[in-house]
Amino acid sequence: MDKPKIHVEMSAVQRIDLAHDALAGRVAVVTGAGRGIGRETACTLARLGARVAIAERSDMGAETEQRIRAAGGEAIYVNTDVSDAESVTNLARVVTQVLGPVDILINNAIICPAVSVVDMDVSLWDRVIAVNLRGAFLMCKAFLPGMLARHGGVVVNMVSTDAMPCLAAYIASKQGLAGFSQSLAAEVGPQGVRVIAFGPGMVDTPGIRGVAQGLASHLGMSADQFLGMSLHPAYEGLMPAEHAAAATAYLIVRLADEYHGEVVDAYTVLERAGLIRSAPPLETTAVRAADTTSPVDLPPAQRQEMRAEMRAEMQVEMLAHVVEAGKQLQAVVEQIAAEFDRLPVFVRPLARSGFKSKAGQSIQEWGRTAAMLTDQLNHIAAPDGTALPTLRADFPRLQALSEKLVDYLEGVPAETARFTKDATMLRQVSQLVAERKAVVRAAIQSIQTVLAST
Ligand SMILES: NC(=O)c1ccc[n+]([C@@H]2O[C@H](COP(=O)([O-])OP(=O)(O)OC[C@H]3O[C@@H](n4cnc5c(N)ncnc54)[C@H](O)[C@@H]3O)[C@@H](O)[C@H]2O)c1
Repeated sequence: MDKPKIHVEMSAVQRIDLAHDALAGRVAVVTGAGRGIGRETACTLARLGARVAIAERSDMGAETEQRIRAAGGEAIYVNTDVSDAESVTNLARVVTQVLGPVDILINNAIICPAVSVVDMDVSLWDRVIAVNLRGAFLMCKAFLPGMLARHGGVVVNMVSTDAMPCLAAYIASKQGLAGFSQSLAAEVGPQGVRVIAFGPGMVDTPGIRGVAQGLASHLGMSADQFLGMSLHPAYEGLMPAEHAAAATAYLIVRLADEYHGEVVDAYTVLERAGLIRSAPPLETTAVRAADTTSPVDLPPAQRQEMRAEMRAEMQVEMLAHVVEAGKQLQAVVEQIAAEFDRLPVFVRPLARSGFKSKAGQSIQEWGRTAAMLTDQLNHIAAPDGTALPTLRADFPRLQALSEKLVDYLEGVPAETARFTKDATMLRQVSQLVAERKAVVRAAIQSIQTVLAST
C-alpha cells in the first residue's frame, strides 16, 4: 500500500538562499523578542545557528526562549526594560558572560499607543520616546564598544516610514531612529560595524492588531480593511512576521555591507532574496526594422505592383504599431493608478494630488483619456477609418497632456529619493520611469506619423 504523502511546509527562511548554519558561532541580541517580529527574528537567527539573547520586558520572552530551545537552538531570556540604563547594563553583563561577545544587535522593542497629540499625556509621550529611541541608544552604547573592538558587527534598527494620524509619538521616535542610524553608520562604519535602518512594511503582529481598531477609524476604514492593507502585490494583506524575520536574516547575512544607515524596506530585501517577486518590468514597443527587399531588379510592371504591396504592408504595420503604442500608453496610466491604490491610505491623496498638479489632469481623467485613445486607434485601424477626424482634432490637446505626463514622470525619481536612500530601489524607479517616458513619447510620435501619412 502507498504511504500517505506528508506535506511539510517550508519556513520562509528555508525558502531563501541562506546556508542552514549561516550564523553559526555568532551572538545576537533581539530586543522586544517576546512576540511579533522580534520573536520571529530571534527564532530565525537561532535557526541559522546564532546564539540568541531575548531582551524583553514581559514574560513572553521566556516563551520565545523555550521555543528556540525546543527546536534545538541556543537562547537566553533576560528580563530587560530597554529604556532603563541599569537594566541594559545588566543585560550586557549577562549576555557577555553566558553567550560571549555580541555580533548582531536588533533594536526592535517598541510601545505604540494610538493617541492624538491633543489627548496624549506628556508622560506617555516621554515613555514612547524612552522605549523606542532612548532604548536603541542605550543598547548601542552597551554593545557597540565590543563590536568596535573586534572591528565587526551589525546593528539593525527597526523603523517605520509611514506617518499616520494618532501615531505622532511613535512615528517621531521611529523617524528619530532613522536619523540616529544614519549618523551612527557614519560614526562606526569606517571601523567595520554596519548600521541599517530597516522598515519591515505592514506586518501581521499582535502590536499592529492591537492598534488597528483605533487607527482604522481615523483613516476612515474598518479594522479589517486596515489589516487587509498590503504594500506589495506579493501579499494579499499584511506580511507574515516570519517573512519580516527572514528579510532581517538575509539583510544581515548577505546585504549588510551595502547599507550605511539608510532605510531599506523588507519588500526590497525579500525580492532580492527571491522569496517574493517584483512587479514585471514594463515591455516597451520594439519598432520592427523596415523590410529591406529592393524591387529595383524587377521588370517595371512587377516593380510597381511590389511597391503598392509594400505600401499597403507598411500601412498595415504602421496602424498595428499605433494601436499597440496606444495600448501601452493606457497600460502605463493604469499601472500608475494601481500603484497609487496600493499606497497607504494616508499617502494616497498626496500622491494623487501631486500627479494631478503636474500631469495636467487627475489620474482618473488620464485613465479615461487613455482608454478613449485606445478606442479611437482601434477604429482607425478598422477598414472604415471613421475615427481619424476626431483624433486629428484631439491631437494637440493629447500632445500637450502627454508632455505634462512626461514632466510628471521626470520628477518621480527625485520624489522617491525623498523617502528612500535604497540605491537598488532608486535605480529600479529610474529605469521604470525611463521606460514609461519612452512609451508616452512613442505613442505620440506614432500617432503623429499616422496623422501625417493619411
Ligand atoms: N508590525 C508592523 O507592521 C511594523 C511596521 C513598521 C515597523 N515595525 C517595527 O517592527 C518592530 C516590531 O514591531 P511589532 O509589530 O512586532 O511590535 P509588537 O508590539 O508586536 O512587539 C513589541 C515587543 O516589544 C516589547 N517591549 C515593549 N516595551 C519594551 C521595553 N521597554 N523593553 C523591552 N521590550 C519591550 C513588547 O513586550 C513586545 O514583545 C518595531 O520596532 C516596529 O516599530 C513594525
